[in-house]
Amino acid sequence: MRIDVVFGPPTAMPALIAGRVIAVIDVLRASTSIAFALGNGARNIVPLESADEVITRAKQFDKGEVRLAGERKMLIVPGFDLGNSPGEFTREAVEGKTVLLTTTNGTAAMFGLQAARDVVVASYVNLEAVSVLMRTAARAGTDITLICAGRDKLFSLEDAACAGRYVRAIAKRLTKVEIGDGAFACTVIDRKYGDRLDQLFADSEAGQALVEAGFANDLETCAAVDSCPVIPIFQDRQITLLGPDRER
Ligand code: MLT
Repeated sequence: MRIDVVFGPPTAMPALIAGRVIAVIDVLRASTSIAFALGNGARNIVPLESADEVITRAKQFDKGEVRLAGERKMLIVPGFDLGNSPGEFTREAVEGKTVLLTTTNGTAAMFGLQAARDVVVASYVNLEAVSVLMRTAARAGTDITLICAGRDKLFSLEDAACAGRYVRAIAKRLTKVEIGDGAFACTVIDRKYGDRLDQLFADSEAGQALVEAGFANDLETCAAVDSCPVIPIFQDRQITLLGPDRER
């Protein structure tokens, strides 16, 4: 089996999608917010491409059933209930609700993946939970692709480092595993930082931009490894918690 990491939406790479188990990583902050929303009891999360789509889709729900969430340039979309800070997705805000979510890079990286075997949403806060699922798939011989959402279609340091952590966790004790160059490069970045995620975020452009925009607290939340041990699975255009019927 083989592990690859790609940077940005992999629309031109069907061979890296079809039949594979895929993890979408947007550490700062969409993947982390999705984990928190589900961890705090959101019924489901519907990733959407634009704010207009969120508003249109919301009309299909009773007001009390739905939360409009997302950001543009890191700030809450005007008129929405929630932005994209993981700390906003509290139990009080999301329990039992459908969250319609649009973010600049994170949700955009989730489209066009229908040919995958499974798509999960990964970050540091659910590292071990998601790694277990991916390790099981890898042991069964399923190829893995980690998609780093990146920033405005460019490479982002924190997604690559997190992908490297997953590559190491998945490949651990596997004897027959091919690791693509992108995946190997990510493990080098992960090893450089180790547990110093504060330094990783301080070096990353997204981390710096979030501090400048007043979201420094979010960095701490996003760096809390295994603080939200859920497996968000994306199927039928919605993200839900992996239930017992879907265990692999
Ligand atoms: C994104 O999807 O682009 C990010 O999550 C941006 C953000 O930090 O809000």
